[in-house]
Amino acid sequence: MNELASVNFLKAHNARHVWHPMGDPKVSEADPPLIVSRGEGVYVHDVDGKRYLDCVAGLWNVNVGHGRPEIKQAIVEQLDRIAYYSTFQGTSNPPSIALSHLLTEMLQPEDMTKVFFSSGGSDANETAFKIARQYWKLEGKADRFKIISLKYGYHGVHFGGMSATGTPPHRRAYEPLVPGFLHIDAPYLYRNPWTNEPLELGRICAAELERTIQFQGPDTVAAFIAEPVQGAGGVIVPPDNFWPLVRDVCDRYGVLLIADEVVTGFGRTGNLFGSRGWGVKPDIMCLAKGINSGYIPLGATVVNARVESAWKRDHALAAIMHGYTYSGHPLACAAALAAQKIVVEEDLPGNAARVGAYFRQCLDELARRHELIGDVRGKGLMLGLEIVKERASKEPFAPNDPIGKTIMQAAFEKGAIIRWAAGKIILSPPLIFTRAHVDEAVAVLDHALARAKESWT
Ligand SMILES: Cc1ncc(COP(=O)(O)O)c(C=O)c1O
Repeated sequence: MNELASVNFLKAHNARHVWHPMGDPKVSEADPPLIVSRGEGVYVHDVDGKRYLDCVAGLWNVNVGHGRPEIKQAIVEQLDRIAYYSTFQGTSNPPSIALSHLLTEMLQPEDMTKVFFSSGGSDANETAFKIARQYWKLEGKADRFKIISLKYGYHGVHFGGMSATGTPPHRRAYEPLVPGFLHIDAPYLYRNPWTNEPLELGRICAAELERTIQFQGPDTVAAFIAEPVQGAGGVIVPPDNFWPLVRDVCDRYGVLLIADEVVTGFGRTGNLFGSRGWGVKPDIMCLAKGINSGYIPLGATVVNARVESAWKRDHALAAIMHGYTYSGHPLACAAALAAQKIVVEEDLPGNAARVGAYFRQCLDELARRHELIGDVRGKGLMLGLEIVKERASKEPFAPNDPIGKTIMQAAFEKGAIIRWAAGKIILSPPLIFTRAHVDEAVAVLDHALARAKESWT
């Protein structure tokens, strides 16, 4: 093994030179990360050769699993032709055209007609905000620039997405943020001041959206954005009536509805798209992650015929003055075409629904044995456990409480990667997970929660 790849070199230089996303550098210097170097299917290996069950699919994205030969072949075949060519006006490349065709076909029920490519979820959302604001300028209503979103929502790290994000820790260090972004309460059944009744909560939160639009003035509101199931905020599944009511409110006031499907797109919730699971057709959808299972960075923003129509007329501001060098990257798009073939051929949305229901059942059973679990929730293979000090009072642990680290470390020791985020254990495995993998994950969680209980009491 050459020095650059030696385990000691990697560990020493990670601590010395790498700043990790979403963490205090001092913490990763003192407490080195798992350095993952290999993966196949639902398992990955670290540089010390230890194998882990990947219960988070990388970062909710490796939906088809690691090391799929079909995707490698698609990338290599494209590399043999050309690695990169731009899609800025005047040039294009075949994989980006083929993928935009495929996406609009997949999204025919939503009447999606145009695709704008980027390099990830933050880009996809930023693109959506710019399209929404430009749409209203082209419609002759330049005052409609405000964007409403949900508390606990996560929309990425660029200034627009961060401004829409509803989790203060992602925002505070970078304020002041972009003007014109507003937040309303999320339909968070486990923690809300109003009700334990899901449909009542759905009505209350949709009514808050309506009142906010009325208060701001409908002629100033461009769009409402939300995740079909809130992910990073803690896997918050809205009541059944929430999204349909939101669509009605948006329609009443002409507000564009943006679905941030970065996590929920391509099968994770048990439907091909998360919003389809609520029977709702957004005007704009933001896609990334599962689009090509993370083999090469890719994001996409798709818009429906209504949005597209604004660009049909002549207008001084009609040029889309937005785009990334890597918009429509041929390798990323070729990987996506191969990944989507797998999603369809292996019915990954169906598998997510079936295996997700079994996972949910096992987690409910686990909660009967572990008092630390305050709430079990999820949809498909997007699941969360809210960890609390006491079930009756729902008292949460402080954000910096060591219990999170104890749980993660115990899981690592037992050979599984799970995620801890602000008092919740997040589970978002590859969509090729089987019931046997669920059993393996639940055994690890059982051990980790027992360890957490010992450490805390
Ligand atoms: C719902 C949602 N939107 C946007 C993003 C940002 O995507 P990216 O990290 O690819 O920029 C994420 C990332 O986890 C996400 O969960």
